[in-house]
Amino acid sequence: RRVLVLHGPNLNWLGKREPHIYGVTTLAEINELICNKAKALGLEADCFQSNHEGALIDAVQQADGRYECLIINPAAFTHYSFALRDALAAVSLPVIEVHLSNIYSREEFRRHSVIAPVVVGQISGFGSASYLLALEAAAVLLRKEGD
Ligand code: DQA
Repeated sequence: RRVLVLHGPNLNWLGKREPHIYGVTTLAEINELICNKAKALGLEADCFQSNHEGALIDAVQQADGRYECLIINPAAFTHYSFALRDALAAVSLPVIEVHLSNIYSREEFRRHSVIAPVVVGQISGFGSASYLLALEAAAVLLRKEGD
């Protein structure tokens, strides 16, 4: 069972980017945690980061048929990318939205996600553990589908 984990813009700078909000764990470390957690759950995870909207949309389209679940932290695209939302709505695989920070406790513009209406669910506010909780959610979803 294969899961694709997508990271949006500026997440390549995790560790040095506003560490008081996003923590000191780097993206490479998070990806390692993700791969280990996936294995423990009997899943296989691939991770991809891009600062470019089009590259993320290409990755979403290419995931269709190749993966069973998509986990995405759309970063700032969360708040305004209708193109990314349309891509996520178009693919047949279930999508889980992830945020390191609690987007509802921050600036007004972060409190709205244009992505949320097209995902199965959202996990927000648990730092790098948000991704690991999303993997747990993916395992639950895929087990249900297998029933
Ligand atoms: C984020 C929250 C977004 O508002 C922000 O633009 C990010 C990261 C998070 O993981 O908390 O880049 O998605």
